[in-house]
Amino acid sequence: MSRRVVLAYSGGLDTSVCVRWLIEHRDVEVITVSADVGQTTEWAPIRERALAAGAVEAEVVDVREEFARDYCFPVLRANALYEGRYPLVSALSRPVITKYLVEAARRHGADAVAHGCTGKGNDQVRFEVSARALAPDLEVLAPVREWGMSREDSIDYAAKWEIPVTASKAKLYSVDDNLWGRAIEAGVIEHPWNAPPEDIWEMTRTVVGEPREVVVGFEAGAPVAVDGGRLAPHELVMRMNELVGAYGWGRLDMVENRRVGIKSRETYEAPGALALMLAHEDLEGLCLERDLQREKIRLAHRYAELVYDGLWFSPLKDALDAFVESSQRHVTGEVRLRLEPGRCFVVGRQSGLSLYDYGLATYDAADRFRHEDSEGFVRIWGLGIQTWAAKQGGVSSGGPS
Ligand code: ARG
Repeated sequence: MSRRVVLAYSGGLDTSVCVRWLIEHRDVEVITVSADVGQTTEWAPIRERALAAGAVEAEVVDVREEFARDYCFPVLRANALYEGRYPLVSALSRPVITKYLVEAARRHGADAVAHGCTGKGNDQVRFEVSARALAPDLEVLAPVREWGMSREDSIDYAAKWEIPVTASKAKLYSVDDNLWGRAIEAGVIEHPWNAPPEDIWEMTRTVVGEPREVVVGFEAGAPVAVDGGRLAPHELVMRMNELVGAYGWGRLDMVENRRVGIKSRETYEAPGALALMLAHEDLEGLCLERDLQREKIRLAHRYAELVYDGLWFSPLKDALDAFVESSQRHVTGEVRLRLEPGRCFVVGRQSGLSLYDYGLATYDAADRFRHEDSEGFVRIWGLGIQTWAAKQGGVSSGGPS
């Protein structure tokens, strides 16, 4: 019996060619697994294409709810943005896809899993490190990294084997999307000076002009409702994509540092994810005790780096999840977002667990703050500085001459 390989299958040119290439060059049976993480695509033709390419089985799994709840929301609760900006769209889908590759590999008695990533990107890292974490015994194959075919070669190869791919020789961009957002790279945007052409955007086209407000409800740090209507995690994110995307907000244009040492120019659109993060972070301002909030802000960068670098399944990420989980117990409440063409911003927040105390904060007659206590507090707070200034002369520059 020939060996079996489970291939992560998107239905695109590369993964379609991978199916046939694995059969030809590795003498294996190929089972494809396509995970629906909310891409804008039709699944029936994708299944047929996998079978036409020679797969013995072609599975499609709808993982949208799990993806939103167990992958997107933890990142949201952590406020994790890679290099302070990117909400980890592609980085998030690879671990969940890998989970289903491994699951299928077990069910079909496969010896290996495979992906269609090139050797230059982050996604190979995420697939392979996730696979090693979940199934250390499985082999990981990466045909695209080995075969040395150009795009034209791949198209000819597909034609020769009568694989019905839709790709044309001129490819404008490389796109990866899911319900958390969309990444667009390559083509003219490979020159960092070139402005992103308007035609790259799909989720963030301004189609409404009248400003409006949206109220997002959170429970223990996870969004649960939009304008009072409770929604399942994936539905909530998709609803936010529609609402916010229609105002043309949620685009990013950046040069980022890939794990493999390359700087790359990336454009993203993630209207729902970025709006939810704005709202969530704001609610934390109301609900988190100061030191917890400060430490959490510091850890958000580390969390984002781990996810970006393919360490979703790792002990440090696990430990940070426990920290984030504990921090979110009281992050329950509502945030008002205002949408205007090209803008999305917070205009109000409320929570039954709020630490905001009007009696302490107000300057009006309801003030309960004990002003007299501040005198001693501030003197002692500044005591070390006062001693330093008196004994050592204080600042060396910028002070009075
Ligand atoms: N640079 C982003 C990341 O590493 C996006 C990658 C998009 N992947 C793709 N195959 N186009 O997460």
